[in-house]
Formats: sequence, C-alpha cells, structure tokens
Amino acid sequence: MTMLPYQAIVLCAFLQLTWASSLSFPSDFKFGSATASYQVEGGWDADGKGPSIWDRYVHEFPGDIKGNATGDVAGDSYHQWREDVKAAAKMKLQFYRFSINWPRVLPTGFANEINPAGVKYYSDLIDALLAEGIEPIVTIFHWELPVKMQDLGGWTNPLIVKWFGDYARVVYTLYADRVKTWLTLNEPNTVCDYFYNSGVFATRIKESDFAPFLCNKHMMLAHATAYRIFDKEFRPKYKGKISIAPHALWIEPATPEDEALAELGRQHQLGRYSHPIYSKEGGWPPSVEKVMLEHSLQQGHTESRLPAFTEQEIEFMKGTADYYAMNQYTTYVIRPSKAGDEAGMWFLTGSPELQATLYHPEKATYGTAYILPVYPEGMRKMMSWVKQQYGDYPILITENGFSSTGSQLDDHQRVDYIKNYLEQILLAMYKDKVKVMGYTAWSLIDSFEWMDGYETKFGLYEIDYNHPNRTRTPRLSSFYYSCVIAERSLDVAESCYKKDSSKVSSDDKNEIDKKYSPPVNDEL
Ligand code: BGC
Repeated sequence: MTMLPYQAIVLCAFLQLTWASSLSFPSDFKFGSATASYQVEGGWDADGKGPSIWDRYVHEFPGDIKGNATGDVAGDSYHQWREDVKAAAKMKLQFYRFSINWPRVLPTGFANEINPAGVKYYSDLIDALLAEGIEPIVTIFHWELPVKMQDLGGWTNPLIVKWFGDYARVVYTLYADRVKTWLTLNEPNTVCDYFYNSGVFATRIKESDFAPFLCNKHMMLAHATAYRIFDKEFRPKYKGKISIAPHALWIEPATPEDEALAELGRQHQLGRYSHPIYSKEGGWPPSVEKVMLEHSLQQGHTESRLPAFTEQEIEFMKGTADYYAMNQYTTYVIRPSKAGDEAGMWFLTGSPELQATLYHPEKATYGTAYILPVYPEGMRKMMSWVKQQYGDYPILITENGFSSTGSQLDDHQRVDYIKNYLEQILLAMYKDKVKVMGYTAWSLIDSFEWMDGYETKFGLYEIDYNHPNRTRTPRLSSFYYSCVIAERSLDVAESCYKKDSSKVSSDDKNEIDKKYSPPVNDEL
C-alpha cells in the first residue's frame, strides 16, 4: 500500500470528525495552559529562597546549556506574575497549570523551615487567578530538587519518599483551601530514565544500571505518599483531585511483527509509571519485571535491577490517582536491535534491556526541538491505549505544545499543531469513547527550555528577554487558542484569530489592562 502523505492523513482525520460527529468540545471539557517554576520564575535566590539543583547546575556548568543560559531571571514571573495572569485572562483560559519551586517554599527542602516570601508568592498568584475565574492547577514537583536533598542521594535515596510527603503536606496546608486540582510529580519518567541514562540535566549523574530504577520506585512511592496524605488529611475538608503527570511517549512498532516489542516498550516507558497506580493488580508491569530479571541475571546480578515492591507497597500505591494526567507530545518507532547497533539510551535511542532500537516516525515533522517529532496521531493512540490498559479514568492532557525559534509572532505552525492535536483528542473522545477532562497548551509564555536555554520557545506569548520587564507579547497561536476556547470548537474562522489583537474586544482589553496596570515592576 502506498503511504499517504502526512497532510492527507491529517485531512482524513478532519473529515472523519466532521462526518462522524462534530468539531465541538463538550461543555465540561476545560482548556488551559501551563508553565513550570524554574522555567519562568527567575528570582533564583530572592527573599529567602534556597538553591535547587538547577540553580547549582547552571552556575557550575554554564557551558552545558545553549547560550550559557540560566534561569536566574528567565521570564521573571517571580516579579511579573501579574502579567502572566493577564495573559491567561485575555485568552479566557479556564485553568492555568503552574508548579511550586520546592526550595522557594522550603529553603532546604525539609519541612522544618518555611520561607514566608515564597509562601506569599504562590498564594498571591492563586488568589489573582481565582479572581479572574481561572482555576489554578498546581504541580508540586517540576524538577527543582533542593540541593541538600540531591547531596543526600536525591531520588535514589528511599528517605525521599517521606521528605516529599512532608513537603506535599506543607503545600496542601497552605493552598488546598483554594487549589482543587493537583499533580504530584511532573514527568517522573523523564527524571529517572532520561536524566540518569543521559547524564545531562541538573544531577549530571550518568548511571544507567541502578539509578533509573531506584528513582522510579521512589517516585512512585513518593507520589502515593503525597496522595494518601491528601486523601486522609485534606480531602475531607477541602475536596479536590490529585494525580501524577508522566511523559506519555507513544511507541509504534516498525512492522506489524514488532507489535509485541512495541507493547513491551510502552510498558517500559509509561507502564512502569502507571501500572503501580492504575492497574487492578498493582506493582510493576509483569512483562517489564520479567525482562528486567532475565537481563539482570544474565549480567551476573543475583536479583533484578528493577527493585521489587513489598505486598504492602503494592497495596499502598494502588488507586492513588483521581484522574489520568499525561504530557503528550510525540511518537517514536521501535524495532529489535540488530548486530552492530549501539546499545541505545532509554527512551531516546533504544534499550539494552529490551534489546530494542528507537527512531523517529518517517512521517513526522519538526519544530525546533528535534527530540519531539510532531506526530498528532500518536495522541489519539496514546489516549486509547490508556483507556484499554487502565479503564475509564478521565484523562487530562497536562502538556502538549510546539517548539519554535526566534520571535515568530506569526506562529502559524503552532496554530496548526494545536489544531491537529486537538483533532486527535476529539477522535479519541468521539470514536474511541475516551473520557477527557481537558487540554493544556504548553506553554503560556516562552520559558527556559532546559538544555536548550532560550533558543527553543513554546510560548503562546513571546517574551522579550532583552527588556528588563520581560515584556510578554501575544503570538498568533494565543489568538487562535482563545478563539477555540470562545467557540468551544475547532470550527474557527480564520477571521477570528487573524484579526489578532482586536479579538480581545477593546472593552475587555481595557478592563484587563486597567486592572493590572501599570505593569508591575515595583518589587524589582
Ligand atoms: C517538560 C517541560 C518542557 C517540555 C518541552 C516536558 O517534558 O515537562 O518542562 O519544557 O517538555 O520540552
């Protein structure tokens, strides 16, 4: 069969939808956008904040990051947060997902010392969002481990399970009266697998044999601990829901014969971070447990490098999520490794344990971030897989976004990206009957894109990094997204968003601008 070109497939998806049902989103579907603390806040040592591993890393190894960039100032959201609320309000976002920088609230990470300025910062942000009718969705950990904890072994030390629980209790105590949707950990699989296997990113530790798996175990237990604390001590009074947001990489088989390997790959990538929580039997995915044991014994170890859970731990983790959250950007293809192939690094190029090689789909297109091939159909397949594996948990897409470079205010590629991925979400909903809570466009504003510094941009709003106030300017995609939100449909006329700033009616604009002006730089 001749391969259909990518555009034709997208067109088919569009027609399928138009014929099948509609391009409209149900009334309970929520649209939001997101950022993460280190990527936007700056104020790295302001007002009593302690150092995180990212603060230390960018200062000690500036050459590691493109343009020697640091997050010292970033988008300066620590001071300019009202501008972020304003941007969110102008788009009429229903929610804004942001994260709490652990050592901003607890300078050493430990719960015995609380930083009042950090507490106030997030409290004010939450209040301002609520005043605009925007729901705050809070991620408790988006990678800023306090240095003291890293020096004690970080996520490879089992004690971190308790430390994270203590930290979570502090943030619930402070904010659970107003925050009703929580995420414990952002992309635990990126932290454990990508960071330790590559040796880049803030820990700068390359250790593939044990660290990824110890980290995996402790992150699952830390999540479950934070969930149990919420469930027992806070939910009865405040209500609310809580989950964990793994990186949901869809894995396609290279040929139909490779489907079993692709399934093993999915279990290795996402199953290790979901099966303990969402499956009926709990614990590690059995297929991965088997492969890891075989591989470890072959290497001469006496037990699996994937550390076992006790029966008690399995019970403790089971059911510890109220919805299924996922960051979904991309799809990779898997095939069995051949003689002469490099061993591969999970989850970018392959896996020695699975004896598998990963590569990018031929049909993929690219933004600036090469490791995130654009492949919208993977979104639907991933969502349907989650339903088939774990049942009818409502799914919240907690991240999805397109990378560009330069200023690019006329970011029509980002507009197409959002449209194409949202189409796949509609197909998952209407054709595969997947329950969906909402969609989060990554990211509200440009941000420090980790190893790529400021060269790679995901923002619906551009940030002028040369301006002391880090001025925010809406991109075309923000107008498009606000039209989708206003219409609650993908059936949006170009005239809606191409009118650009006039989309925000002058009344709205004046009102919002008035409320937040003059631009706040008084704390600078
Ligand atoms: C992370 C974000 C990051 C985005 C784009 C996700 O893996 O959660 O922090 O900016 O991908 O690379």
